[in-house]
Amino acid sequence: MDEKNRKDQTLELIKNRRTIRAYDPKPLSQEAVDTIIHGAMRAPTAGNLMMYSIIQVSDQKLKDRLVKTCDNQPHIAKAPLVLLFLADMQRWWDYFKLSKVEEKCNEIGKEYQTPQESDLLLACCDALIAAQNSVITAEALGIGSCYIGDIMENYEIHREMFDLPRWVFPITLICFGYPRGDKNKIPLTSRYAQKFIQFTDKYSRLSEEDFKEMLKDEERPMIVKEAQNMGQQFYLGKIGADFSIEMRRSVKAALKEWLKKN
Ligand SMILES: Cc1cc2nc3c(=O)[nH]c(=O)nc-3n(C[C@H](O)[C@H](O)[C@H](O)COP(=O)(O)O)c2cc1C
Repeated sequence: MDEKNRKDQTLELIKNRRTIRAYDPKPLSQEAVDTIIHGAMRAPTAGNLMMYSIIQVSDQKLKDRLVKTCDNQPHIAKAPLVLLFLADMQRWWDYFKLSKVEEKCNEIGKEYQTPQESDLLLACCDALIAAQNSVITAEALGIGSCYIGDIMENYEIHREMFDLPRWVFPITLICFGYPRGDKNKIPLTSRYAQKFIQFTDKYSRLSEEDFKEMLKDEERPMIVKEAQNMGQQFYLGKIGADFSIEMRRSVKAALKEWLKKN
């Protein structure tokens, strides 16, 4: 393929991606699944340490349970491919144990530390970048996808469901499948104007006027009956909604486990 075609096709793919929540029941071939996972694995990772793992959720009973534990989202059960992306520091700390790193640290007078907050954030970066690579790879195969952020809820249940050790955190779940019907009929979601998202050299807080302009074409219907404006709607419907409160509780519990002293 020549340079121009490659550029056009890549940009088109990125510009036309949209979240797909209704799937054709047609299963994905093993070749397609492997291509998606290899795409994920080509993502950059900090120090090339690949501080993430992926669990392919194939058992229908697990998918059915995820519907409930991820805030009642039935499309999870109907997705032909479901991948769970884990921020994973367990692999490295298991290897450090085998490699007697703690003993070596003691010998040379260096403090041996177990994973901390920064390690979790870095592992989450790796996992999420790999996740987005899988989304784009799937898109190239004509396969749609939907992130499920609610996997961060119910930490204790997910931990037990997937046998997650202490230094593994489920950061995102992605449903994949061929779109049911013509995906181009699903309207592309809007984005706020570039000037409200990209600043140059320093951060810029938005004024009341800026917010008015930023939200002037907001297409989302007012669905929270108590809300009288967009701010109240965003808070009551999303950031302060019950699922967000559960997510905050769950992530706090996961952090406590991650950081606990032995
Ligand atoms: C971190 C993250 C979490 C998300 N969680 C969910 C979810 O739990 N359920 C869902 O149906 N869509 C979820 N989405 C999809 C978003 O709703 C969607 O990306 C957004 O509305 C923009 O639409 P678009 O992807 O079609 O451009 C999530 C997306 C991201 C990036």
